[in-house]
Amino acid sequence: MKGVILAGGHGTRLHPITQGVSKQLLPVYDKPMIYYPLSVLMLAGITEIEIISSPDDLGSFQRLLGDGSWIGLSLTYAEQDKPRGLADAFLVSADHIGDDSVALVLGDNIFHGARFGPLLQRAGQDVKGCVLFGYPVRDPERYGVGVLDEQGKLISIEEKPAKPRTNMAITGLYLYDNDVVDIARNLQPSERGELEITDVNRVYLERGEATLVPLGRGFVWLDTGTHDALMEAGQYVQVLEHRQGVRIACLEEIAWRMGYIDRDTCYRLGSRLSKSPYGRYVMEVAKSG
Ligand code: DAU
Repeated sequence: MKGVILAGGHGTRLHPITQGVSKQLLPVYDKPMIYYPLSVLMLAGITEIEIISSPDDLGSFQRLLGDGSWIGLSLTYAEQDKPRGLADAFLVSADHIGDDSVALVLGDNIFHGARFGPLLQRAGQDVKGCVLFGYPVRDPERYGVGVLDEQGKLISIEEKPAKPRTNMAITGLYLYDNDVVDIARNLQPSERGELEITDVNRVYLERGEATLVPLGRGFVWLDTGTHDALMEAGQYVQVLEHRQGVRIACLEEIAWRMGYIDRDTCYRLGSRLSKSPYGRYVMEVAKSG
């Protein structure tokens, strides 16, 4: 399975902070936002990942993450010259996806929960159709919303409905079989002029090939779409890291635990950042095992 991180857009809801820097590079407490969705793909066992961003910002992502080999990944970069919609990611990354299945994650989505890696690895095995992840929220009208029947089967998906039928938001993590590229090619732009991910998901729903995995109460899915949400996401990470002494979305640690790099490499990566608590944590993790 290939991975794609969509990290473009104008970040207009966060102006003026995002006038000079990409939203997905803003700090969420102790690391850049993109570390969080990247860590999700790594935990899913995906190592070939393409990062999509605007022509202005792509260089900054490249400076930050390079070719990915330092954490055992193969990272490539692709330009989206205009925010044409989430489903445009499959057109921009068609070559990268090739004839494989694909996991798309939005560069501003933060997930956290015990055993998330194994859950994703199971969900990503031989994907037939699409696998979506649902999360109950207080304000479903801001998201794609799913309706399940009594057997837990997905029966409807609506994008930002004025009157949501459920509180089950569809998160920004999507697994697809290879048909997604053709489906995206045949989409028409919506009224707001975008290729909508919800329209892709509806095609799968009509085929009876859309599954929604509800992420239960033990999981955390955080939004970074407003100034308050961004601040709260940072506070969540800070509280948890202080309390537990472990770091969320520490790429070097995940790379080592997943077997993408060895312990010595992990230690060396930490020592390069040893002036920051993050770097010292990486060294400590590699030392203590
Ligand atoms: O976060 C989950 C939600 O993401 C889903 O529940 C919705 O169904 C889905 O449409 C999407 O809603 P948003 O309103 O959050 O999408 P937004 O337009 O804000 O784009 C999400 C991220 O993707 C954002 O960081 C910018 C980036 N993006 C967006 C577009 C439209 C791109 O990189 N390129 C684009 O063309």
